[in-house]
Amino acid sequence: MTGEEAFKKGMSLLAGGVTIISTGTGAERRGITATAVCSLSANPPSLVACANKDTGTAQSIKESGIFAVNVLGGGHKDLSMVFAGATGLSGEHRFQHGNWAEHDSKVPYLDNAIAVFVCETVESISHGTHYAFIGNVKDIMLINENEMPIAWLGSSFHSLS
Ligand SMILES: Cc1cc2nc3c(=O)[nH]c(=O)nc-3n(C[C@H](O)[C@H](O)[C@H](O)COP(=O)(O)O)c2cc1C
Repeated sequence: MTGEEAFKKGMSLLAGGVTIISTGTGAERRGITATAVCSLSANPPSLVACANKDTGTAQSIKESGIFAVNVLGGGHKDLSMVFAGATGLSGEHRFQHGNWAEHDSKVPYLDNAIAVFVCETVESISHGTHYAFIGNVKDIMLINENEMPIAWLGSSFHSLS
């Protein structure tokens, strides 16, 4: 088995933490649900976040150079579907759901997330359909660090205990 189908099937076996990548300001806020986020380096604190070029979120990060990674818990499953586009909402309309606040940097963040990483883009790598944004972490908020995050595996959520 080779090709895109096999790739997607194989990657569905790789469990991932569920996040919302948020960016933009005011009425131009943008966000997507994303599992393609991983740690890059502790010095400097940095991570990689991958977003489809067709999303408003990727375009907005390209313009602003700043984004937040909001780590989701069990109470955020419905919200993650909103930010995956499953309810038909796009752009700013998604932010009518969830407890969104504005960081000092102006980037929106989820004020009841498990943790939030506010990042400045230092590099954006274009590859195929996606950009890989390398972000230096400028602020970390461990809001509900004792709650369990959720994982995405095999096209469904899994609670960790
Ligand atoms: C669990 C889950 C994980 C996802 N992970 C990513 C991801 O890492 N990167 C990405 O670009 N899209 C990812 N998506 C899809 C985006 O959330 C979706 O394409 C996006 O919300 C569409 O936004 P748009 O309406 O602005 O185009 C994921 C979707 C789900 C349900």
